[in-house]
Amino acid sequence: MTSMAPGVITCKAAVIWELGGQVKVEEVKVDPPQAGEIRIKMLCASICHTDVLCCKGFPIPLFPRIPGHEGVGMIESIGEEVGGGLKQGDIVIPLYLGECGQCLNCKTRRTNLCHTYPPPFSGLMNDGTSRMSVAKTGQRLYHFTSCSTWSEYTVVDFNYVLKIDPSMPISHASFLSCGFSTGFGAPWREAQVREGSSVAVFGLGTVGLGVINGSKMLGASKIITVDINGKKAEKGNVFGMTDFINPKDHPDKSLSELVREITHGLGVDYCFECTGVPSLLNEALEASKFGIGTVVPIGAGGEPQVAINSLILFSGRTLKFTSFGGVRTRSDLPIILQKCMNKEIQLDELLTHEIHLDNIQEAFEILKKPDCLKILINF
Ligand SMILES: NC(=O)c1ccc[n+]([C@@H]2O[C@H](COP(=O)([O-])OP(=O)(O)OC[C@H]3O[C@@H](n4cnc5c(N)ncnc54)[C@H](O)[C@@H]3O)[C@@H](O)[C@H]2O)c1
Ligand SMILES: [Zn+2]
Ligand SMILES: [Zn+2]
Repeated sequence: MTSMAPGVITCKAAVIWELGGQVKVEEVKVDPPQAGEIRIKMLCASICHTDVLCCKGFPIPLFPRIPGHEGVGMIESIGEEVGGGLKQGDIVIPLYLGECGQCLNCKTRRTNLCHTYPPPFSGLMNDGTSRMSVAKTGQRLYHFTSCSTWSEYTVVDFNYVLKIDPSMPISHASFLSCGFSTGFGAPWREAQVREGSSVAVFGLGTVGLGVINGSKMLGASKIITVDINGKKAEKGNVFGMTDFINPKDHPDKSLSELVREITHGLGVDYCFECTGVPSLLNEALEASKFGIGTVVPIGAGGEPQVAINSLILFSGRTLKFTSFGGVRTRSDLPIILQKCMNKEIQLDELLTHEIHLDNIQEAFEILKKPDCLKILINF
C-alpha cells in the first residue's frame, strides 16, 4: 500500500486493460465497503486456469478489470449490515458462490448453485457499481466474479466469503478457494462416485489432481489419468492415480480408445474432463461406459459453443455440468478445509512457483513451464 486517505485506499492491483492484452500492475483506488460488504487486505492469491480465460474475455468480456478469484485475506473494514459474525481482522477466502440455505436449490441439498447468491458475472457489486478505479484517472474497473483477488485490497459482498481458521497455511487456503476444491468436489458432490468404480481424469492441473484425491477418498478402484505433459504423472502418483496415459505416446489412437484398452473395452464409470479442450468432451463421453457412464465437464474452454457427436445422444450416458465441483460454500467447503488441516489432503505438492504481485506479467510465462502447477502471488 502506498497511501491511505480516509475511506479510500490507494494500492496496487493487476489490471487487464483489453481483450488479449497483458496484465499490468497499476495504482488503484479501492472504495470503502458499502452496506453488506467487506474490504479485505489480501495476504496472498493464486492462479487458476479460469483467470487465464478471464484475460481472454471469459465469461463476459468486461475491461478494464482486476482478475483473480483465488486467494485469502484479512478483513480490513466492514460496511453496515454485515452478518455472519464477521469482524475486522478475520481471515477469509473470497468466493464466487454463496449458500443462503433458504432458497429452493439450497433446501434440496442436491446442488451448490444457490438462487440468492449465484456466480456473479456482471463485474459489478450488487448495486450495479464498482468499488475499484484507476488512481490517476478515476476510470472505473470491473471486478472479476465476486473476488478480484489480484489486488492488495478488494471489496466483496459478505455472503461470498468464508471465514477460515487463521492457523491454516495461507497457500493451502488460497488453493482451496477454487481449483483444488472444484476437482475434489466433482466426484464427491457432483458425480457421487461409488466405491469400487472406475474413473478417468483428463488433464492433471490442480483441478484434475483434486479429482484424483476426491475419487480416491470415495474408494474408486481405478483412477486413469491423461495428460500431454508427462511430468504431470509424478504429481498424479502422489495423489493416488492408478494408470497414466500420455496421448503423445500413442499418436495413432484416440483418447477414448486408450481408456477402453485398459478397462476391458468397457470404458469407465465416471470421466472428468479437466483440460477445457472442446474436442475432448466427445472423447470423455466415449471413454465412459455405454448406458451408465457419467461425464463431468469441468474444463472451461471459453468457446461460445461446444459440439457433441449426435450418436452419443442415444447412448444413455449422463452429462453433469458443474460450478465449483458442486461444493456448497457453507456446508461443504469447511469439510475440505478441515481435511487439509488434518493433513488428509496434501496441498504442499501443488505449490511450484511464487511471484510478487509486481511481477504478475511473468506469471503467464511461468504457467507454460512443464513443471508449473500452482503459482502463489505474494503481496
Ligand atoms: N467448472 C468450474 O467450476 C471450474 C473451476 C476451476 C477451474 N475450471 C476449469 O478447469 C480447467 C482446469 O483448470 P486447471 O487450473 O487445473 O488448469 P491447468 O492448465 O493447470 O491444467 C490443465 C491440464 O490439462 C492438460 N492438457 C491440456 N491439453 C490437453 C490435451 N489435449 N490432452 C490431455 N491433457 C491436456 C495440461 O497439460 C494441464 O496439465 C480449466 O479449463 C479451468 O478453466 C472450472
Ligand atoms: Zn440458496
Ligand atoms: Zn478457478
